[in-house]
Amino acid sequence: MTEKAEKLIIRLQNVTRIYKVGVELIHALDGIDLELRKNEYVAVMGASGSGKSTLMNVLGCLDRATSGYYELDDKDTTKMSDAALANVRNERIGFVFQSFELLGQLSALKNVEMPLIYSRNGWWSRRKRAKNVLERVGLGDRIKHKPNQLSGGEKQRVAIARALVCNPSILLADEPTGNLDSKTSEEILKLFDQLHREGQTIILVTHEKHVARHAKRIIHMRDGQIYSDLPREQDPAYKNTIQNDVRKGPK
Ligand SMILES: Nc1ncnc2c1ncn2[C@@H]1O[C@H](COP(=O)(O)OP(=O)(O)O)[C@@H](O)[C@H]1O
Ligand SMILES: [Mg+2]
Repeated sequence: MTEKAEKLIIRLQNVTRIYKVGVELIHALDGIDLELRKNEYVAVMGASGSGKSTLMNVLGCLDRATSGYYELDDKDTTKMSDAALANVRNERIGFVFQSFELLGQLSALKNVEMPLIYSRNGWWSRRKRAKNVLERVGLGDRIKHKPNQLSGGEKQRVAIARALVCNPSILLADEPTGNLDSKTSEEILKLFDQLHREGQTIILVTHEKHVARHAKRIIHMRDGQIYSDLPREQDPAYKNTIQNDVRKGPK
């Protein structure tokens, strides 16, 4: 039996992003080709400055490519107006950052409701939806708390709930465990595992092997280019980890 291929969500062709700093040109993205299907779970790895965040910003429609083609959900984003692109960003993209980026004055519930402000639904249905997604990330009992009354892991859960509330095509997480201790990081990664099992498409940026090993496909970047893109089992770094695990395991 052949497995039915999932729908193509993302297609990048020869994408560049060039920053101009004074007279210097920085090729932050230097000819990226990338295809991503629904329910993939991808880790993007690479040293600091290799272009990971720039790639996420372009994928998330926070920024535009300097040249090249970017198709999201069958739509060519390169020709869209800024307003159309902002709509795509609000409706189709969920973003999670290392620094949570929550609004400090607002409760967890209000933070998660924020992206629904433009939706046509009434406040009651918006509230219900925000509550549901907070329950989904395990924070049903913290909805009235403000960010400074929450732990780091809980703050990141609120941010993940906010990213999911519009039911995005893709969840983009840029170093989501970078500000968390290792135990809390593992809890957040378990939550990503759960979301992936529930069908969510995820791209996660990290420079840590133990974080990337949760993903099913691992992309390595260097100098704005992708130099390796393999299923996790075939990734050289991960292969070694499996061997180590086997060596350490019982005979
Ligand atoms: N707004 C910017 N203006 C100028 N250069 C930038 C800007 N953002 C990033 N860069 C440069 O682009 C390259 C890639 O940066 P970035 O995507 O942030 O890398 P990473 O997330 O992998 O650390 C780096 O050389 C960085 O200095
Ligand atoms: Mg970065």
